[in-house]
Amino acid sequence: MASFVGYRPEDEKAHPPYLYPDYVSTRKRAPSRPLIRIPHTVSEITGPRLVRPISAAGSTDLTRFNGGEALGERIIVAGRVLDEDGRPLPNLTLEIWQANAAGRYAHEADKHDAPLDPHFSGSGYVITDSEGNYRFLTIRPGAYPWANHYNAWRPSHIHFSLFGPGFASRLVTQMYFPGDPLLELDPIFNSIPDPDARKRLVASFAIELTIPERALGYRFDFILRGRNSTPMEQAR
Ligand SMILES: [Fe+2]
Repeated sequence: MASFVGYRPEDEKAHPPYLYPDYVSTRKRAPSRPLIRIPHTVSEITGPRLVRPISAAGSTDLTRFNGGEALGERIIVAGRVLDEDGRPLPNLTLEIWQANAAGRYAHEADKHDAPLDPHFSGSGYVITDSEGNYRFLTIRPGAYPWANHYNAWRPSHIHFSLFGPGFASRLVTQMYFPGDPLLELDPIFNSIPDPDARKRLVASFAIELTIPERALGYRFDFILRGRNSTPMEQAR
């Protein structure tokens, strides 16, 4: 019977614990009993693969929707997706969702008293090229209040979901913006124990990505698993 080499163990301090009391909803959803470790098998290492439509090219411009241009500050977000050994991951799908410039999601569950933008859906996906690069144009999302505690505001962020080469390399995370004063107050950001790992969730301003007269550029790389992995937004 063939044997399969699993992924290396994760750095526990790079990912949030199941229970982080300041992030109130973890008090209810954290497991109350010890977890059982299940060894990786071929199922977790080689699949499942996210199969995209052959014709799909991704949505590299989220600033135009429903026949018009979205309001807000246009930004470019670009970077690479790498595996735990630093190898580029080509042809990988990154799903994107975010609030609009006013801090409101185009979703029925969002009751925040801020305007919706008929020309911004806040969702899309992009696909990495042969060198693991991705790039898209969007609107810088606004901060929004949430009910975690009194006067709680989420820092501006973009949500990402990546399907890596195997189930064990799945990543769901959030990208933040440099210099945001809400970061140090945010329990979701601060639930990641290692300060260096937290920094890996903050994009860098990149003048070389900036399009003159059009959009500011931010660079954000993803690393799926390993010592330098991009942290999950909550415990796996
Ligand atoms: Fe969000």
